[in-house]
Amino acid sequence: GRCVVAVDGPSGSGKSTVSRRLAVGIDARYLDTGAMYRAVTWAVLRSGVDPADAEAVAKVAGEIDLRIGTDPQGYGVTVDGVTVDADIRGPEVTGSVSAVAAVPAVRTLLVSRQRDMIDNAGRMVVEGRDIGSVVAPDAELKVYLTASEAARAQRRSAQDAADVTVTAADLARRDRLDSTRKTDPLQQSADAVVLDTTELGIDEVVARLRELLVE
Ligand code: CDP
Repeated sequence: GRCVVAVDGPSGSGKSTVSRRLAVGIDARYLDTGAMYRAVTWAVLRSGVDPADAEAVAKVAGEIDLRIGTDPQGYGVTVDGVTVDADIRGPEVTGSVSAVAAVPAVRTLLVSRQRDMIDNAGRMVVEGRDIGSVVAPDAELKVYLTASEAARAQRRSAQDAADVTVTAADLARRDRLDSTRKTDPLQQSADAVVLDTTELGIDEVVARLRELLVE
């Protein structure tokens, strides 16, 4: 039957790795909602639209054909048939995604797409910033992953082979934008299980979530 695990938290909290591994382990689909906001941002930059121009951004979001797979072992993202998996992780998209994600019309559109995918999935691990609060408030399990700012910057800079100071500044900037925007800010749902992963390995976090699922 239907079973949704909502995984929210800031960047570098271990969300993606934990969510994918959990999905493989429980034979579930996986949805990376951040990749959808990144793909819209890619399209905005491609069209030469200013990411701060909410009206123009909303227009781009409404016109593109955005597709994303749900296989936790490897999913593709395309915009109008172009594979964007690598480009959406680049610094240009990362620098503008929080502005694009703050546009209410973009959120309305993507949240509705996300709900459709969840409804068609059966079991799904869904990762993002507003999953437990907005996209799937009725999820079977809601998790909020955190970690110290230093640990998050360390992990993300290792992943991107980037300078840790620059990465820390980017994370702090996005955290601030994502948690202070007016529409669906990043927040801990009152009913989410909070796990601080600063001192926890991936395997420990995944094991803990599996325990919570059978309880
Ligand atoms: O990879 P990282 O954890 O840094 O971020 P992501 O999950 O790929 O999300 C990129 C950006 O998309 C975030 O900084 C948010 O601005 C936005 N986002 C959002 O607003 N809502 C979501 N459900 C997921 C992502």
